[in-house]
Amino acid sequence: MVTSQANEDFLVAKAHAKINLHLEVLGLRSDGFHELAMVMQSVNLSDQLKLIKRTDNNIILKSNNKEISNGDDNLIIKAAKLLINKVGNTQLGVDIELEKNIPIGAGLAGGSTDAAATLVGLNKLWKLNLKTEELENISEEIGSDIPFCISGGRQICFGRGEVLEKLECNEFNLGIILVKDPSIQVSTPVAYKKYKEQYGHTYLQHEEDFEIKRNLVRSIKWSDQSLFENRKVIQNDLQKSVCPMAPEVDKSLKILSGLPGARLVSMSGSGPSCFALFENYDLANKVLKEHVQEFENAGLSAWACSMMSNGVQLRNEFTY
Ligand code: C5P
Repeated sequence: MVTSQANEDFLVAKAHAKINLHLEVLGLRSDGFHELAMVMQSVNLSDQLKLIKRTDNNIILKSNNKEISNGDDNLIIKAAKLLINKVGNTQLGVDIELEKNIPIGAGLAGGSTDAAATLVGLNKLWKLNLKTEELENISEEIGSDIPFCISGGRQICFGRGEVLEKLECNEFNLGIILVKDPSIQVSTPVAYKKYKEQYGHTYLQHEEDFEIKRNLVRSIKWSDQSLFENRKVIQNDLQKSVCPMAPEVDKSLKILSGLPGARLVSMSGSGPSCFALFENYDLANKVLKEHVQEFENAGLSAWACSMMSNGVQLRNEFTY
């Protein structure tokens, strides 16, 4: 039987995956991270976190995915503990039930978006009243993609990824086919390390040069239609270094490029997931259904999704 209840002691947070419409490595920063110019986009492939207030001060995580650690190394636990630390209240506790749908190690910000949902959700559950900007600032301590995942949609992301400039985004307009070979994961640090080894000599050295590149990215139109028209300027630099170590990326890109109606094909983040953009969701879904066998033969998991204009979504109705 399905019942539903709503009260102040629990809520449900929906955490969307992201794709990189653009990822340019500009250079190296003094903190060792890379200086980036990206455009990130939320998509409706989502995890769900149930947050249930505890009367003691324990933080307990359970998930439907055995590959995920429920301990202190999980970004969800890190986010909850960081929040407690920032507000200085050690009496807060929560049970978190994670329903994992976003593939792990895929370049889709699965871990980062769960951390974003934890911060937004606990801010509400524990009545902390922190502003979105404050949550973004806190979140960058534990991951470069988390600030974006908090408010999501379509944003230009500079710095390590945490300097955000919001763009217009029409929800449910364009369609996306997303693929990932479930047998491989790409480690983000390894992808950046490889890129540095191969292309470090091309890095810009000065802040003024970074700013010129940033202004170039700002000057590009990032509307849905422009994404198709600007195909040649849109790039993911990491693709060059990830492809040789993960042949599944080339395989994915080739299959996606051959799909009828695919308008723009790229790797997402540090891979290995790749995506193709379509005129609309119905077309993407139709093409996916018609090519299910091809994806299966190639050993790829595939999803049809659409773009979301927001990040974490909360509701306090618990259906079970
Ligand atoms: O911030 P996040 O935990 O996602 O970064 C994971 C790793 O990816 C970093 O430790 C770093 O090696 C690399 N990275 C980078 N430059 C960035 C973001 C990530 O070099 N802007």
